[in-house]
Amino acid sequence: MATQQPATRPANPRFSSGPCAKPPTFDVTKLANAALGRSHRAAVGKDKLKSAIEGTREILGIPADYRIGIVPASDTGAVEMALWSLLGARKVEMLAWESFGAGWVTDVVKQLKIDAEVKTAEYGQIVDLATVDTKNNDVVFTWNGTTAGVRVPNADWIADDREGLTICDATSAAFAMDLPWDKLDVTTFSWQKVLGGEAAHGVIVLSPRAVERLESYTPPWPLPKIFRMTKGGKLIEGIFTGATINTPSMLAVEDYLFALDWARSEGGLKGLIARADANAQAIFEFCDANDWIANLAEDDATRSNTSVCLKFTDARIQDGATFAKAVAKRLEAENIALDIGAYRDAPAGLRIWCGGTVETADLEAMLPWLTWAFEAEIAAQSQAA
Ligand SMILES: Cc1ncc(COP(=O)(O)O)c(C=O)c1O
Repeated sequence: MATQQPATRPANPRFSSGPCAKPPTFDVTKLANAALGRSHRAAVGKDKLKSAIEGTREILGIPADYRIGIVPASDTGAVEMALWSLLGARKVEMLAWESFGAGWVTDVVKQLKIDAEVKTAEYGQIVDLATVDTKNNDVVFTWNGTTAGVRVPNADWIADDREGLTICDATSAAFAMDLPWDKLDVTTFSWQKVLGGEAAHGVIVLSPRAVERLESYTPPWPLPKIFRMTKGGKLIEGIFTGATINTPSMLAVEDYLFALDWARSEGGLKGLIARADANAQAIFEFCDANDWIANLAEDDATRSNTSVCLKFTDARIQDGATFAKAVAKRLEAENIALDIGAYRDAPAGLRIWCGGTVETADLEAMLPWLTWAFEAEIAAQSQAA
């Protein structure tokens, strides 16, 4: 029996978790002022890079004594340069609850060969943060696990009088969640996530204590040029005022400046958080109203408001992975929801991006289609049986 298609379609079917939807007011003509074909070291280029740094500080409320750098290789580049530059000085605790966090564990344990204490949780869960010794150890963690839809509920577990550093991959949290800067020594993110910017560059935010470590500690391994933040034992300050380590894309910079302007027009961080919360709430309510689908995050306090991950819970489903893929495929074929299959290493299901660039009306228009696709797939499955 064919299920009837809903009457309303989302105006924008882009619900990918990265690169994420562009801001709703975006079109390419907005990039007309990009400093293309100019040196990034000329005044025009440097000014734009400086504006990108200061706009980041303004919107995220980053303290004046924290350094903000635009660095190569997106969030991955920013995380790697932190790990390679800072770790090895004291005991390390690695926390992971999904695949990116697990990737940082591999790098630290297998590449840097650090005898770290590793704490991991299954998809949908988080490690017991009360067991983490932030007072004494360097701690590496992901604020929001993009592939599990699980985030830390707060930073209360991080000691104010810590001697170690906290290194936080916040790529799917920055601009959607409150990041308490006094608890974070190194924070990283990329432009392609919550602000819907272009992939290319990463951002690294350093507390004064992180700078102190950089200036007082030299790791025993070699550091490639693109990871080096110090010269002769001193921070290369230029990196944090717009003199990037190597050549950035001025098109991506212009796009980021546009996204920051859009963020301002939405009321800055508060407005962006409210938009993500409203989006995620629409999905939470959908899950509450339908017993065939549930949030992958087991504890409500750890539910993401950006990368919301869902699992199908209907007992009639025979092969979970095939079923979830087929539902996502139906929605993609109808141009209702693009790129919402669960991440390749995550449990079978869906992942729906809820960051601020997504319009709540689009999510609300999409959800009845999810019901349609689910029912159509259940029917198809029983016909095939
Ligand atoms: C938590 C997390 N860390 C790191 C990355 C890698 O980011 P990028 O591809 O921007 O380097 C991602 C990408 O989705 C992510 O979600």
